[in-house]
Amino acid sequence: MHMYTNFLFTFLFMLWNNARTIFQRLPSCKTIISTLKVSKNVISRNAMVTKATLLCAMAIAGGVSAVEGSSNTEVPVLGPLGVKLSPDSFWEDFQNYSNTTELLQKWKVSRLGLRDSSTGETRLMYPATWTLQEPYLLKSFKNDKCLTIETPHSAAMIGRVLENPLTIGDGKKLVVQYEVQLQRNMECGGAFMKLLPPMNGTDLHRYGGSNVPFEVIFGPDKCHPYTNEVHFGLKKTNPFTNKPEAKLLTNAPISSLDGDETVRLYTLIMDSESQDFEIRVNGKVVKAGNLLTEGLFNPPFHSPKKVPDLKAKKPENWDEREFIPDPKATKPDYWDENEPLMIPDDTDVKPDSWDENMPEYIPEPSRFKPKWWNNNRDGEWVAPLVRNPQCFQIAGCGPWQPRMVENPDYWGPWNPPMVENPKYRGKWAPPLIDNPEYSEDLKPGNLENPIGVILFEFWSGSKDLLIDNLYLGHYVEEAESLGNKTFISKKRLQNQQIEAEIIGHRGRIEHPKKPPTMLDYTGGNLNLFDRLSEYGDCLLEKFSEQSSFVQNILGGTILVLILMLTSYFYLKVVYFQQGYSDGAKSKDKNEKKQQPKKSEVESLSVSVDPEQVDADSQSDKTDFTKRRVKQPVK
Ligand SMILES: *[C@@H]1O[C@H](CO)[C@@H](O)[C@H](O)[C@H]1NC(C)=O
Ligand SMILES: *[C@@H]1O[C@H](CO)[C@@H](O)[C@H](O)[C@H]1NC(C)=O
Ligand SMILES: *[C@@H]1O[C@H](CO)[C@@H](O)[C@H](O)[C@H]1NC(C)=O
Ligand SMILES: *[C@@H]1O[C@H](CO)[C@@H](O)[C@H](O)[C@H]1NC(C)=O
Repeated sequence: MHMYTNFLFTFLFMLWNNARTIFQRLPSCKTIISTLKVSKNVISRNAMVTKATLLCAMAIAGGVSAVEGSSNTEVPVLGPLGVKLSPDSFWEDFQNYSNTTELLQKWKVSRLGLRDSSTGETRLMYPATWTLQEPYLLKSFKNDKCLTIETPHSAAMIGRVLENPLTIGDGKKLVVQYEVQLQRNMECGGAFMKLLPPMNGTDLHRYGGSNVPFEVIFGPDKCHPYTNEVHFGLKKTNPFTNKPEAKLLTNAPISSLDGDETVRLYTLIMDSESQDFEIRVNGKVVKAGNLLTEGLFNPPFHSPKKVPDLKAKKPENWDEREFIPDPKATKPDYWDENEPLMIPDDTDVKPDSWDENMPEYIPEPSRFKPKWWNNNRDGEWVAPLVRNPQCFQIAGCGPWQPRMVENPDYWGPWNPPMVENPKYRGKWAPPLIDNPEYSEDLKPGNLENPIGVILFEFWSGSKDLLIDNLYLGHYVEEAESLGNKTFISKKRLQNQQIEAEIIGHRGRIEHPKKPPTMLDYTGGNLNLFDRLSEYGDCLLEKFSEQSSFVQNILGGTILVLILMLTSYFYLKVVYFQQGYSDGAKSKDKNEKKQQPKKSEVESLSVSVDPEQVDADSQSDKTDFTKRRVKQPVK
């Protein structure tokens, strides 16, 4: 039973596979058919055979190209980075871990448990599991491992202790950069980073969110419809309460976590000398400004010098009314407030055929008391009322009333006119006093603690979110070189795959497959829904594996048979008609008919222009270098 369903699905899948390729080639089919149709007006059995053979050849070509497409798209190997990093820079490309065990020795997940007060059970505070994975939807370089989340819709946390904590201050810059790639649609989830003060691995295993305030928060977050932005914020300790406060960028740029599944690059540059900062997405500056600019951060780094006195009260005699009713005005005598707005029209007369004795509504004649009706229990039965049909035949029935018209004597309620209030003193506002909590921070770019930990902590929006190529350091040039080397190349590669998919000539992107299980899978408790979706992935994978050469040929042959049959009947009809009309037409008319053929053939040669692809990726590059241009904030 299972085998049969399996076979059926595989068969449908490969039929689809072939049909798609042939459809993509349909313009060329059409051209060939019309060419042949026009150039030969001799109807012979041979011509028909030629045509059928051509169609066969095309169908087989379609089948074969489907086979080509389903083989692995070639991906290049990423060469050596060739970027010399300063010893205090941090760089993580996840290439040095061969399995999850090794990954989790450096990158630590909190094991903190939470007690569920309703069930008494203890569960992990951050149940999401992490592993290493290569992008499977749009390929990256060969063996390009990325950090990835296996669990969708759960609290996720992973962090790494830096061997050399980074101090930001004394004119040093903070430069953070990393890649994010989505492989599934995400409704609500983050991919942002927190930079924490130094901790050791044991502390990270006990990390519980609010127990350690971050120094910097940066990165994309999207949760429809609540947020969709690249967060940027710094922590500052309030000198009066001694509590940490997150100062967050207002009007932050949008997250860019929508659209295609290509990789994105997020960069933060903060200069502790000038207090300038810059946020770049894919190398382009999307926000630039100065930490000290008023209104840019909330709460501001600078508290106001004067604040309203909250204890002040509005004096009793303070008159805030700008206008008052004129106390001297009186209602004129002619003004009768009791006159109604509408009165009956005296000129209206009752139509002759109006019958006041005939009822307007009558019991519905087709209704009868139901059998189950019990007068004692249900009360007396009354038929529902309907309009009396006899009334429609005359002007009307029931009591007649004249129509209503506007009353010329109507005045409405009288109000005295408004006049300026002589006692008006303006709107009251509490007086300003010196801010008792005034604090001045002219160098918010100096972080309070060194950065000792890189941490991802957010709500996981979809599984298989990829994070890669993390840079943390003082140097913009290093981040740019790394971005040039990794992100730009990866993005170009993925753009080419998308173009190839759109044009359909350069092979095909593989269908979504279950990610390669290159690593020990730690499981986790999947619910039914997740298991079903896993099963769906599994099936898909099977089909793409099984649509092997033989099956494609099989599918191709079946399609060819169908095509041959349809084309046989189609051509028969067309040739019958054409032969009939051609006989009656003169020769030069035939020559005219040939002309559109040429342009149709030309339109056949649509293919990817390699020059153009290069030019496009070139523009990526230039974008990356244009970054210096500072855009005005807002
Ligand atoms: C990976 O290991 C190599 C060899 O030990 C080392 O040179 C390189 O810096 C490591 N890369 C990262 C990102 O840690
Ligand atoms: C992970 O890789 C290391 C080094 O290759 C190996 O010693 C270890 O056994 C592997 N662990 C698992 C669970 O495969
Ligand atoms: C980690 O740091 C904590 C203090 O934050 C300390 O109590 C603990 O002993 C440290 N553990 C190790 C293994 O160094
Ligand atoms: C990044 O690439 C662009 C274009 O090739 C180049 O002009 C720029 O100098 C590169 N930047 C760095 C820091 O290497």
